[in-house]
Amino acid sequence: MSLLSDLDALDAQMAADALDTPEAAEAFRVRYLGRKAGALTDLFKRLPELPAEDRRAVGARLNALREQAEARVAEAEAALNAAEKAAQPGLDLSLPGRRPVPGAGSRHVLTQTLDEILRVFGRLGFAVAEGPELETDFFNFTALGFPPDHPARDMQDTFFVAEDKSLLLRTHTSPVQIRTMIADGVPLRIVAPGRVYRNEDITYKSYNLFHQVEGLYVDEGVTFADLKAVLRLFAEAMFGSDVKMRFRPSFFPFTEPSAEVDIWSDALGGRWLEILGCGMVDPVLFAHTGVDAERYTGYAFGMGVERIAMLRHGIEDIRLLYENDVRLLEQFG
Ligand code: PHE
Repeated sequence: MSLLSDLDALDAQMAADALDTPEAAEAFRVRYLGRKAGALTDLFKRLPELPAEDRRAVGARLNALREQAEARVAEAEAALNAAEKAAQPGLDLSLPGRRPVPGAGSRHVLTQTLDEILRVFGRLGFAVAEGPELETDFFNFTALGFPPDHPARDMQDTFFVAEDKSLLLRTHTSPVQIRTMIADGVPLRIVAPGRVYRNEDITYKSYNLFHQVEGLYVDEGVTFADLKAVLRLFAEAMFGSDVKMRFRPSFFPFTEPSAEVDIWSDALGGRWLEILGCGMVDPVLFAHTGVDAERYTGYAFGMGVERIAMLRHGIEDIRLLYENDVRLLEQFG
């Protein structure tokens, strides 16, 4: 039957057509299903010319081909639509807006304080340096002039990591002084922020990790007067220009002479409050780092970031800074 073999040829042709663009899909639809000149539409129109006994078989075959063609067009349209959607950015202007949650995504008060400290020293010409939290005895103690039997090396204060006590969690940021002098040489003017760890009881005023900012300035002719000037500028920037300061003689194995600095302001309750330790770099450090001690002098200081944040904001319990209570986060958000 020649009409049926025509249908076979049409079937094969349809199967060979690719519907991979919107244009190809539309051309396919017009070619086979178009109301005026579609190939299948034409054949449907010619059905009445066939002998009655052939009509049923040809009609069934035509219907199957039409369904097949419609399915291919629908499938191609769906695939092309999906591809077009995927190529567009996920922007839905009809979505309802999101309500901002107060305090959400804000910076922690400790981070704010640390950033402020670094900003103040940045304006005074200090670059930022960093060192590892996992330290060796050499950088944390020996190179900083701690005698072998110094109590700070004791289990009481230090979290040792290695059995032989050669590796530890740094107890202060002062090892960064040694690391930067070795790595960069002098002259040098840096602040080194970071976490430090001490094996202490957790109370309202002590925690077993906290943050320090170390300062180090080494050059020719650096004096204690330079140290006082820079710390006064710092205290005024952080606590207001009417802040009072005093330097109390103290001791650190890595500075000579050494001092602790207290501040006083009426806003802080009208009492002396210790904020940092400092001094002139002990020449023993220069011996460990290859700096010419005849030519250079320097000063160093170290402060606790938690303490400064607590003083500035009247926070009376250091544990609050580590609990992530949403009320504290919102208060300083
Ligand atoms: N590293 C000392 C401490 O943790 C602070 C300090 C730093 C003192 C630099 C003097 C100079 O207490």
